[in-house]
Amino acid sequence: MKTIIKGTEFYYIESGDPAKTSVIFIHGFPFSHAIWQEQLAALGNEFHSIAYDFRGMGNSGVGDGQYTLEGHVDDLITLLDFLQIDQAVIVGLSMGGYIALRALERNPERFLAVVLCDTRSEADDNAGKIKRANAAQAVKKDGSAVFAEAFIPAVFTEHAIQQALPAVKMITKIICANDPVAIAGNLIAMAARTDTTASLKKITVPTLILVGAEDKLTTPEDARNLQSQITGSVLHIVPDAAHLSNLENPQFFNERLLEFLDSLG
Ligand code: MLT
Repeated sequence: MKTIIKGTEFYYIESGDPAKTSVIFIHGFPFSHAIWQEQLAALGNEFHSIAYDFRGMGNSGVGDGQYTLEGHVDDLITLLDFLQIDQAVIVGLSMGGYIALRALERNPERFLAVVLCDTRSEADDNAGKIKRANAAQAVKKDGSAVFAEAFIPAVFTEHAIQQALPAVKMITKIICANDPVAIAGNLIAMAARTDTTASLKKITVPTLILVGAEDKLTTPEDARNLQSQITGSVLHIVPDAAHLSNLENPQFFNERLLEFLDSLG
């Protein structure tokens, strides 16, 4: 399904029962809503699930290719308004987690609970910003396929890559289909994002934290930092998984997710 937000087409999928608790899923960079298929299937009719493509990614429009985390939060709140959802559980993976944490800081009244997957609260340091700037230049010059080739080893376990598991093929296909201008724009958005660490102590909603045991981008240590600062939060380390813990070990991930969602009552 599609809606227009500030002149740009937004794509989202919806499943389950709209009368039940809404759970909105935000993918990581540079992916799409498609990474959440197994989670939507697991939630079935017990919840109302929504997964959307954030600006520039998947089937959503590229617009002018200039993005900020603030704009991504505006888009999320506008989408919730459009869907007439007052409050939702927010599930964000990696950059989706950056968006979720900033959304919680800005609009806490819109969220019932949060699930932070393979993410962190710290902004990029100088070396990180420079790396993003170089990657943004490179993807515009070399294209999305070259970017995907370099990015895949950073997000999957060696086992997944060696076995060329379906998840690796799916993510490669998603990255290759994304516009280099949008990939560059979202790299710059991440480089310019604010640090949300100071507000972690203000989070009062139930919080679940999940991280792949072999995540090299947002490590188990980053996840432990989140857990130590969010009161009452629960952390699970997902075995046999790297940065895309929901794709590499969906069984473990979904069990923990459903356990958490059921505990909300
Ligand atoms: C993501 O998966 O969203 C990104 O790799 C996160 C990042 O690069 O900081």
